[in-house]
Amino acid sequence: APVPVICIDGPTASGKGTLASEVARRLGYHYLDSGSLYRLTGLAARRAGLALENPDEARLSALARQLPVGFAGGHILLGQEDVGEAIRTEAAGMDASRVSALPGVRQALLELQRSCARLPGLVADGRDMGTVIFPHALLKVYLTAGSAQRAERRHKQLISKGIPAKLDGLRADLEARDARDQNRVASPLEPAQDALLLDNTHLTIEDSVDQVLRWWQERQ
Ligand code: C5P
Repeated sequence: APVPVICIDGPTASGKGTLASEVARRLGYHYLDSGSLYRLTGLAARRAGLALENPDEARLSALARQLPVGFAGGHILLGQEDVGEAIRTEAAGMDASRVSALPGVRQALLELQRSCARLPGLVADGRDMGTVIFPHALLKVYLTAGSAQRAERRHKQLISKGIPAKLDGLRADLEARDARDQNRVASPLEPAQDALLLDNTHLTIEDSVDQVLRWWQERQ
């Protein structure tokens, strides 16, 4: 039987990660945070001294194909180094968005992502899970929230971690990232034709989780 896959796609700071990891936990499924692979590629590129403003696609694709990614006890590793925090900064998010616009980089990470579909099931979050990586997924959710709301959540998150942040700057940054993700030629951010739309602007995390689990049950 095919491995059950649930895709959760949507823009920056829409709450995909929180929703997808909680749905995975409730179902006992594996969880793929595909954005972390683009963040790792961006970080590895910076470390290798490669320019991201005017990127060399061939070199970046080669780097992505050989990415020494590892997971240990919930930590994400680049080689031996725990880069869990380094890939979560806003700058790393911007770098991820830059490298992710390159078709060669996307191609290099494709099989790695598909190989994450294992029994008993997978919940995958990103921008193109439902459109490109898992086109035959049993459930596809496209998650949105207003950009003011998303900026506010991101702001709270950063402040609670002791990272200084300005609301206006955050909103401008996430709108810039959304625009780049939506307008790129390679796998642009857009809902799959068969995706169910979920706007969580006025929903709690628990409400969103329940909605996805209900949709999932309806498909069994
Ligand atoms: O989801 P996250 O914010 O970690 O993703 C960082 C960036 O990686 C996004 O802005 C997007 O440009 C890119 N990305 C992508 N495709 C995915 C996941 C992330 O292009 N499936």
